[in-house]
Amino acid sequence: MQPFTFSTVARVVSGNGEALKLAVHCANLGVQNVLLVTDPGLVSIGLIGPVQDAMGAAGIRVTLFAKVSEDPPEAVVLAAAAAGKESGVDGVVAVGGGSSMDVAKVAAALLCSDQALSDMYGVEQLTGGRLPLILVPTTAGTGSEVTPVAVITTGETTKAGVSSAVLLPDIAVLDADLSLGLPPRVTAMTGVDAMVHAIEAYTSKIKKNPVSDNLARSALSLLARNIRTAVHDGRQRDARGAMLLGAMQAGQAFANAPVAAVHALAYPLGGHYHIPHGLSNSLVLPAVLRFNLPEAMGLYAELAELVVGATVSGSDEARAEALISSLEAVIVDLSLPATLSEAGVREDSLETLAQDAMLQTRLLVNNPRDVTYEDALGIYRAAFWPRA
Ligand SMILES: NC(=O)c1ccc[n+]([C@@H]2O[C@H](COP(=O)([O-])OP(=O)(O)OC[C@H]3O[C@@H](n4cnc5c(N)ncnc54)[C@H](O)[C@@H]3O)[C@@H](O)[C@H]2O)c1
Ligand SMILES: [Fe+2]
Repeated sequence: MQPFTFSTVARVVSGNGEALKLAVHCANLGVQNVLLVTDPGLVSIGLIGPVQDAMGAAGIRVTLFAKVSEDPPEAVVLAAAAAGKESGVDGVVAVGGGSSMDVAKVAAALLCSDQALSDMYGVEQLTGGRLPLILVPTTAGTGSEVTPVAVITTGETTKAGVSSAVLLPDIAVLDADLSLGLPPRVTAMTGVDAMVHAIEAYTSKIKKNPVSDNLARSALSLLARNIRTAVHDGRQRDARGAMLLGAMQAGQAFANAPVAAVHALAYPLGGHYHIPHGLSNSLVLPAVLRFNLPEAMGLYAELAELVVGATVSGSDEARAEALISSLEAVIVDLSLPATLSEAGVREDSLETLAQDAMLQTRLLVNNPRDVTYEDALGIYRAAFWPRA
């Protein structure tokens, strides 16, 4: 067996209503004065008030920072850290999607170190520690609650990642009650993102490992079986719980067996067109998988029954094709745009997108098949028009 390493969060707590018991977890970590990081939308729909009140009633002092925006810029991270410093907090809690969790992760590090944010980007660049950290996802997508990564917007079209074991939280709390009101479109986009995490982890070229493989398979099965219900009948608590569990397992998988060309080709769509991360992935997913077939057919065939169902049979080629067709059907059923043209991408920008995708070398090295500039352009072209 190939040697491998696998790291994940020290503790996962899962249960309906767990977000109202955060004070217990704070106390276990010795935290009495907390920075609660979230976004204004979640405050306005009434999701944060009860969580904040429950902590306050249990004697925890709470400083609310509710200024996180989607794809958070550096200024938001610095403002969160400044708010925490002013209140002298001794711990950080995020309740929100990947944007809030990523801000909380870096703020917890900034509050415990003199290192400048600009020196934190890259892999294992953090020189200090972090404050105690609890992450509570309200979307089922990024898996940020169990990844060592935070993604920050650094320019007009650019994002940068801080990747460090320091950013793995002390506790990830999964509470399906928080995601019952997640709008169908966000549920669909973030859910497909999680499915892509599972698929790309399972075919990751260099760091694929048996622990990630099992998590990826479990994740894909949970996500594929529940995504339609979560989107079309979002009050179904069991489907929401399954999506949260699936997204977390996919996060654990790709934190150790990193994502590849789907994400590499998705990022430029976010940068140039502000297409949300999950939708960007969804738009290029079928074309990237078809491109990868010569190298990944066997692995895609192994994943087919998790998405298509136990009835899938035949050669590796037939089962791999069934996986891709089934994913295309999911995208249609979720009412997501299926082509780049439908999503408003201009045909004359495909060369620029392909050039930008080639810069994602950190991701492309994980792809089962080498990707050249011509390949990237060919994939964008294939994703542009409906398939004949
Ligand atoms: N750290 C990682 O490992 C990692 C991985 C992938 C992506 N990311 C980053 O995560 C961010 C995307 O995160 P996201 O997709 O979770 O979305 P998000 O946090 O940006 O939230 C998207 C929208 O959904 C709303 N929302 C969230 N939960 C809701 C709920 N329960 N009910 C109603 N509305 C709700 C928010 O208010 C917001 O308007 C991006 O910045 C991306 O780069 C991080
Ligand atoms: Fe992703």
